[in-house]
Amino acid sequence: MVFKRTAGSNMVKALILALLPVALAFASCPSGECEETAVVQVRKSGRSKRDLMIGYWAWAWEGAANTIPGPANQTMGICFSGYTDAQTNLNFCISEGVIPYICSGSDVTCTKWMTVGGAGTTTDRTVLSGAVGLAASIRSAGFDGVIFDSEYVEAQSTSTDLVEDFYEATANLSSAGLMVGITTSHSAPLGCTNCNAAEVVKGWLADPNLDWISPQLYSNGYSLELVPTSDCSTESPACTWDIYENAIVQIVPSVPYAYMYDQASTNAVDYFKDTYNITLQGYIQWIQEVDSSFNPDPSPSPSPSPKGYYGRKKWFGR
Ligand SMILES: *[C@@H]1O[C@H](CO)[C@@H](O)[C@H](O)[C@H]1NC(C)=O
Ligand SMILES: *[C@@H]1O[C@H](CO)[C@@H](O)[C@H](O)[C@H]1NC(C)=O
Ligand SMILES: *[C@@H]1O[C@H](CO)[C@@H](O)[C@H](O)[C@H]1NC(C)=O
Repeated sequence: MVFKRTAGSNMVKALILALLPVALAFASCPSGECEETAVVQVRKSGRSKRDLMIGYWAWAWEGAANTIPGPANQTMGICFSGYTDAQTNLNFCISEGVIPYICSGSDVTCTKWMTVGGAGTTTDRTVLSGAVGLAASIRSAGFDGVIFDSEYVEAQSTSTDLVEDFYEATANLSSAGLMVGITTSHSAPLGCTNCNAAEVVKGWLADPNLDWISPQLYSNGYSLELVPTSDCSTESPACTWDIYENAIVQIVPSVPYAYMYDQASTNAVDYFKDTYNITLQGYIQWIQEVDSSFNPDPSPSPSPSPKGYYGRKKWFGR
């Protein structure tokens, strides 16, 4: 796990807490050398599947009464509403009573996130600066981070303008004590007005203030799709997955079911490693279930219906 810009974040706090007993135990060590060894040991022994980021998109429109708290191993609980601007999303997360509920199903350290955008809305300079202006309220409402769901984006006039607007937003949110993530449709926004989607994503992937990016590896929400965004995959430059090679930002795809991340016969981890030498850092689960570990490979019978009921009677499609 790369700790690049985490001052004030819960991750650092968790790490400091985890290391505290060791640091105390070696407080009397005269050389300092033994403390260093101990720290390395703690980090190594803690390095397991648990270090992966495991997020859960909680559909806020279900309301607190029906929002499932998500899997026990989730490290990020997300209030997902789908409105354009930060203020409306914040109001909705509050009025639906979802904020205390996200992460409540987790038995590991879990950070709380609020989305801005999605559901056909467009991320532009106004949306980005609006989120910055609301940073203090987002913090005090109980969130640790903000996620821009940017499936349609609009630049002032060039890709560079939009990347600079994102950089300004991530830097300001970060200095306001919030973590920042971006999620998009497959490999890149499917709509990019006044911009080229691949250029914008390349900008995101090089942003030192962005904690992670989550390509959504699905269209209808229940089957895994590893194709890049078709709208920009033939543009020049193309938004094919190779633009994700050498990213400094952690890549945490969104998948319908947890097992699709690394257990299905065709899974995200193997695909990205074998095809692009990209190491994924975790996943975000879309399906509204506590346990989505079952594996219907090779193919379920009867096959899942896009409009079917799943788990605790939640509609799949939206
Ligand atoms: C971000 O912070 C800088 C420096 O404090 C400030 O000049 C700028 O207006 C801020 N941007 C937004 C979108 O609020
Ligand atoms: C794959 O990436 C790793 C680290 O990112 C690097 O050490 C290794 O050489 C790469 N492998 C290939 C075949 O490029
Ligand atoms: C998290 O839990 C799910 C079951 O709910 C399981 O399928 C998945 O493998 C777990 N992920 C990790 C990284 O432990």
